[in-house]
Amino acid sequence: MLIKKAEEIRGSEITPKWLYVNRRRFLTGALGVTAGALAGRTLKELAWPAQRVMAGSKLNVARKSPFSTNEEVTPYDDVTHYNNFYEFGVGKEEPAEKAKNFRTSPWSVKVSGLVEKPRTFSVEELMQLAPLEERIYRHRCVEAWSIVVPWTGYSLSVLLKEVAPQPKAKFVAFETYYNPGQMPVANYAGIPFPYVEGLRLDEAMHPLALLCFGMYGETLPNQDGAPVRMVVPWKYGFKSIKSLVKIKLVEKQPPATWNMANPSEYGFYSNVNPNVDHPRWSQAKERRLGEFFRRPTLMFNGYADQVASLYAGMDLRKYF
Ligand code: MTE
Repeated sequence: MLIKKAEEIRGSEITPKWLYVNRRRFLTGALGVTAGALAGRTLKELAWPAQRVMAGSKLNVARKSPFSTNEEVTPYDDVTHYNNFYEFGVGKEEPAEKAKNFRTSPWSVKVSGLVEKPRTFSVEELMQLAPLEERIYRHRCVEAWSIVVPWTGYSLSVLLKEVAPQPKAKFVAFETYYNPGQMPVANYAGIPFPYVEGLRLDEAMHPLALLCFGMYGETLPNQDGAPVRMVVPWKYGFKSIKSLVKIKLVEKQPPATWNMANPSEYGFYSNVNPNVDHPRWSQAKERRLGEFFRRPTLMFNGYADQVASLYAGMDLRKYF
């Protein structure tokens, strides 16, 4: 397979984000309706787990999470039409269109490896493992933009405790569903599939690491990683792997897609760090999707109090 270099891919993204988003907001405003409002009105309440989890169904959030920020939430339309999901195209507008018919039901997630109780969960079973919480995170993406999204899910630690990691388990490896029949444009993405990611076990056990089923009070739209994804808010967006089908506990650091594709640009840790530049752009400032002016990026995306201790004594320039 011909693997394009990341520079070639990224270089083709020519519309600046603020311009794209503002144009989009203008168009949506002119129509007088947002996709979120439309989906909310036309879809029936989801009575899980009796009913299958379908993208865009209402989620009754059990409780607010203490991890919420008070920052203004990014409009639904921006978050659902400016995506990275290379299985459905490399253009930011492509996943919303090309993932429309992605079949996400029935769906199961296999949890295996160095655990006492390996098990395959249906997504409905997974949703019942813990009360769902709404967590409003400031989530940073790869190319210096950020979003603030009311995600719905629970700490991945709940699932990991359920399967009981063995003492030898040191890392968690994640894998996305891959089916070229459903993802014909994936061939042109220039990165290998299935998309894989990894976290150190202590990172994965951190209460901020979210196993995520929904956003904006509904189950995840396909382009945002339906029916279940990770959200790791103190790391760059590519660590937040979408449409999960496998979680495996392992002894050695597992492969991670962008790190494999371009190790000098994308490290395994990928903690948000304004002091370590990406080789081709500064990471010191970010543009919030929908805003014009850039704002300073915060260390660990503003979660330093919660997560800095995970990296005590590590040289974050080396382990970027
Ligand atoms: N997961 C899969 N399976 N495939 C992808 O291409 N892109 C990653 C991450 N998860 C990606 C993925 C990148 S680069 C980013 S920035 C975030 O998803 C984007 O998430 P969003 O589209 O919900 O904002």
